[in-house]
Amino acid sequence: MDLILFGPPGAGKGTQGALLAQRFGLHRLSTGDLLREAVREGSELGRRAQGIMAAGELVPDDLILAMVREVMVSDTAAQGVIFDGFPRTDAQASGLDTLLQDLERPLTAVIVLRVEDDVIVDRLSGRRACTNCGAVYHVDTDPPKKDGTCDRCGAALVQRPDDAPDTIRRRLAVYREQTEPVLAHYRATGTQVHEVDGDRQIDDVQADLVELLS
Ligand code: AP5
Repeated sequence: MDLILFGPPGAGKGTQGALLAQRFGLHRLSTGDLLREAVREGSELGRRAQGIMAAGELVPDDLILAMVREVMVSDTAAQGVIFDGFPRTDAQASGLDTLLQDLERPLTAVIVLRVEDDVIVDRLSGRRACTNCGAVYHVDTDPPKKDGTCDRCGAALVQRPDDAPDTIRRRLAVYREQTEPVLAHYRATGTQVHEVDGDRQIDDVQADLVELLS
């Protein structure tokens, strides 16, 4: 099973994708996580991506597609993949079509998490992420047991640089302008597109997703 978890920044793609990956034994391929890893490592890709991400803009399609291809041809992807935060442009969607055709892997579905912009701003302002394992928390709705410390690995939790108010607004605008239109590509090609109300308790959203995929 290969599926796309789609939605605006802060819709809960990472939160729900991690739970689904665990439940169904899939690999969650988050292009945002891969880019942040490249930034931490100080690689050529990381150096090119850092400023773009901090501004809330999109990293060039060729870099993203090369990164995704590398994962998809590795053993990591063999058990099935949840794409989180990818594709984000029409060019990325076409690139993914070609890649999946080459690998003879049909796309199972696109699942869209719907959340209003004002809820997103609250969520991203309160988000904290683990510097070591990438686990995601929220200071009000999903706090760690010990303030500022990851429950899973004990490392420090930080606020992402792109979760500053102005950058959140820019990321939302980029989503509306460049990413949301990608859904038309999937509807036109007959891929199953499911819309799920993402503005509910994490467990309730997860229950709907599990039912959809079971
Ligand atoms: P990326 O890391 O993909 O960020 P994003 O898409 O903006 O999504 P987020 O990670 O912000 O949100 P999410 O939907 O995963 O929500 P989460 O579960 O964390 O991309 C970052 C940047 O990298 C981009 O801006 C771009 O520059 C670049 N990039 C990445 N991919 C790219 C691509 N394909 N092409 C080009 N550039 C790319 O939840 C958010 C918060 O809400 C958390 O605190 C969580 O605890 C809380 N929460 C979650 N669900 C609920 C709920 N149901 N109720 C209450 N709180 C909740």
